[in-house]
Amino acid sequence: MTSQPYVLVTGATGFIGAHIVDDLLERGCKVRAATRSLKKGELLKQARPKYASHLDIVQVGDFSEAASFRQAVKDVDGVIHVASPFSYSVKDNEKELVRPAIEGVKAILEASATNPSVKKIVITSSFASVMNADRKSPPRFTYTAEDWNPLSYEESASKETSAVIAYRGSKKFAELEAWNFAKERKPDFDIVTLCPPMTFGPIRHPVSKLAELNESNAYLWKVASGKELPVARVPFWVDVRDLAKAHIEALLKPLAGGKRFIIASPEKFSYGLVGDIVSEEFEWGNGRVAKGESQVIDDSYDLDGLTAAKELGLTYRTFRETVKDFITQAIEMERNEIWSR
Ligand SMILES: NC(=O)c1ccc[n+]([C@@H]2O[C@H](COP(=O)([O-])OP(=O)(O)OC[C@H]3O[C@@H](n4cnc5c(N)ncnc54)[C@H](OP(=O)(O)O)[C@@H]3O)[C@@H](O)[C@H]2O)c1
Repeated sequence: MTSQPYVLVTGATGFIGAHIVDDLLERGCKVRAATRSLKKGELLKQARPKYASHLDIVQVGDFSEAASFRQAVKDVDGVIHVASPFSYSVKDNEKELVRPAIEGVKAILEASATNPSVKKIVITSSFASVMNADRKSPPRFTYTAEDWNPLSYEESASKETSAVIAYRGSKKFAELEAWNFAKERKPDFDIVTLCPPMTFGPIRHPVSKLAELNESNAYLWKVASGKELPVARVPFWVDVRDLAKAHIEALLKPLAGGKRFIIASPEKFSYGLVGDIVSEEFEWGNGRVAKGESQVIDDSYDLDGLTAAKELGLTYRTFRETVKDFITQAIEMERNEIWSR
């Protein structure tokens, strides 16, 4: 792989994908951004006039339409596969979360196997594929990249289960699809998977109104806009800019090949802490943030994001910086929405 490869990014018009696109472009790489919506793709491109000659948009179909992915991987040196459904507002867990996540990984791997120029595939998995909701301290423990969530396919896909559990299953079985492919098919490319927890931070993808925010940032906005205080299921998080950098380093560093990394800040968070930060950092904050029962951050267990920081050369941002940067942007969006009414 050269130091400035041609890279296909799936989910490029999403929250994390757009940061990855920008990071690649800033490093001089050529990027092919894949999306199901050409309109969103064009908006992404129009917002980056400086990089017009380095950024092309490709429309892909549903993950089950393999032909469009064969076209999308043509001539690229590497793939960063970000696209996967991340929403807790679904009616059919298996159809809307579990199956598309698995089919997406399968489609990318099968397409890449037909294209000898692809040298590495980095896949955005999730801490959801690592955590075991039944594991409790004491004794104190630390989740590492060796851990896997124990959900069965049936539990994840069941109509009775919550979308949160189904999402955890979707990420586990999609990631396993990749590692099984590597073991059984021994492709010419390396695979790397990244497992981030809740990811927050400023947005760079096309979003016309706050109601369209991605799932994770929508929780921060709930706090700042005075809605009911959400409860964090786990106290782990990462800044989207640090996560984007991790993807690029995983792609470019030969030693990352074949590895699974947890990308997570060592600092822990709660939505109560978001409220405190907003109150302290913004003049309007105190009178407006969501109130609820005071939240104690669960410090009884840890997540090892430091191994990845060392191997990939990352420095994690502070939670205060992440919240401040996103809320500054969200407030500006709110003002624009009010003025344009
Ligand atoms: N945000 C977090 O807190 C977080 C944490 C850990 C892991 N992740 C993982 O990071 C990735 C990106 O998440 P995000 O927060 O950036 O979400 P996002 O803004 O919703 O972006 C997801 C992208 O995936 C594509 N996608 C979704 N469902 C699809 C489907 N059924 N078929 C084809 N494409 C589909 C969409 O692309 P188009 O509509 O343009 O086609 C969308 O832009 C996901 O794999 C997610 O599991 C996210």
